[in-house]
Amino acid sequence: MPHQPTELYRDKNHACLMFSDLIEEDGQAVQANQFLIVDDDTGAIIDPGGNLAFNELFMGMSKHFTPQKLSYLIASHADPDIIASLDRWLTSTKATLVISRIWERFAPHFTKLGKTENRVIGVPDAGGHLPLGRHELVLLPAHFMHSEGNFHFYDPVSRILFTGDLGVSMTSGAEARVPVTDLAPHIARMEGFHRRYMVSNKILRLWTRMVRQLDVAMIVPQHGAPIMGKQAINDFYNWLDGLMCGIDLFDDRAYQIPTTQIDPITRQVRPQLQAVGA
Ligand SMILES: [Fe+2]
Ligand SMILES: [Fe+2]
Repeated sequence: MPHQPTELYRDKNHACLMFSDLIEEDGQAVQANQFLIVDDDTGAIIDPGGNLAFNELFMGMSKHFTPQKLSYLIASHADPDIIASLDRWLTSTKATLVISRIWERFAPHFTKLGKTENRVIGVPDAGGHLPLGRHELVLLPAHFMHSEGNFHFYDPVSRILFTGDLGVSMTSGAEARVPVTDLAPHIARMEGFHRRYMVSNKILRLWTRMVRQLDVAMIVPQHGAPIMGKQAINDFYNWLDGLMCGIDLFDDRAYQIPTTQIDPITRQVRPQLQAVGA
């Protein structure tokens, strides 16, 4: 059956579901995962996605959960593949948007006038603990990974760490369903993205120092496959500790008055935008 979510975790009172193939794979929009967390009779959507995902996610969610009982729309950051469907979610549910305080006043640009009034929790840079049913989600600082105001979400019940655009791999929706337990062959599918979209090695190291204190069973990114098990997760932290990315790779060669012609008919640009040395 198409569009069946993957059950990342389930017990009597708590479930984490991943929707990974809601967007038609025609190659124009990047594959993206959306998440539903249910605790007792309340729930939250993490990174609801763009308009492409709304209808399918809303219907998929309704099979597992009454949309009226959705408490939160939780956004790791403010990119279009994270939150462009905000207007439709605010119309169809009573949920509150949870997003970095630095994006709080930008998010209303995704909606019709007045839609976000009294419906946004602006999370301060330090993050916090957000009640969900009988439990909570931990909103962990992940700024500059890659967005300036960025959070990751730790669920202490499932021990899943939802990492937005960190840990992303370029895969199909079907491949995204299969957790990675051996990191080495997976690195090639992550490396190009992280070198360009993550801001700096300093930030990666600050982040690994923080999350190594948590008991994490699975790292689940917003694109591509989860990383599962102690060994693969530790290998992932070690890989990040040594990864040069973003501004580490940019120098004066990346900031020259351009000489490249953009052809509006063929839409070709050469050379393509890339980090120096990437
Ligand atoms: Fe993003
Ligand atoms: Fe993304």
